[in-house]
Amino acid sequence: MKIKILKDYNELSYTVADIVEEQIKREPISRFILPTGSTPHGLYKELVSRELDWGAVMTYNLDVYIMNPNHSQSYQTFMKENLFNKINIYPTNCQFPDRNVQSYEQRLKGIPADLCILGIGTNGHIAFNEPGSSFDSETRVVDLNEQTIEDNSRFFDSVDDVPKQAITMGLKTIMKSKKIVLIANGVHKYKILNVAMNGGITEKVPASILQKHNNVEVFYCD
Ligand code: PGA
Repeated sequence: MKIKILKDYNELSYTVADIVEEQIKREPISRFILPTGSTPHGLYKELVSRELDWGAVMTYNLDVYIMNPNHSQSYQTFMKENLFNKINIYPTNCQFPDRNVQSYEQRLKGIPADLCILGIGTNGHIAFNEPGSSFDSETRVVDLNEQTIEDNSRFFDSVDDVPKQAITMGLKTIMKSKKIVLIANGVHKYKILNVAMNGGITEKVPASILQKHNNVEVFYCD
């Protein structure tokens, strides 16, 4: 699969913002699956600056930690601070997985998302589908892998404060999206990105499932 190498983080952010903008303008009633983490920061900043009409958009987040949603490091807080509080989206149209996993799955089942934006973990995870996750997986509660806890400890006071469990959209659910955009930033991501896109398709590297999707774009910058 082709990995499009962009010149810098700025270009990565506005290239993906262009795709989102084009989708909203073409279909104001759009459904997006959205990521958290450090990679989409620039994308959300860019989208806020464009003053698009989000009035008919529905969003579904990929995953949440099992923790107080009002905590400063929860993914609900991240989305509010970086995007939702700064655009004209209806709060009730911003959906997050919760313990009622069947209900979240049903909301995504009937009508596939128009666009799913994903990051990739250094262990090849997408959302919190850690290595070994079934390609048939749906929304569920998962234990976080040690590598993920270590990687995400940078957002917390100590590694012990990182939640150990999360609720994640499954790989099968993600694959139903009409279009998928994978973004990765930093040399520490290149190796796993290349393995996922050009190595064998295996549950040991969850992102490798994307090779089976017919509408994926992959963007990388150092
Ligand atoms: P990051 O996380 O954007 O913080 O690197 C990506 C991921 O783990 O999916």
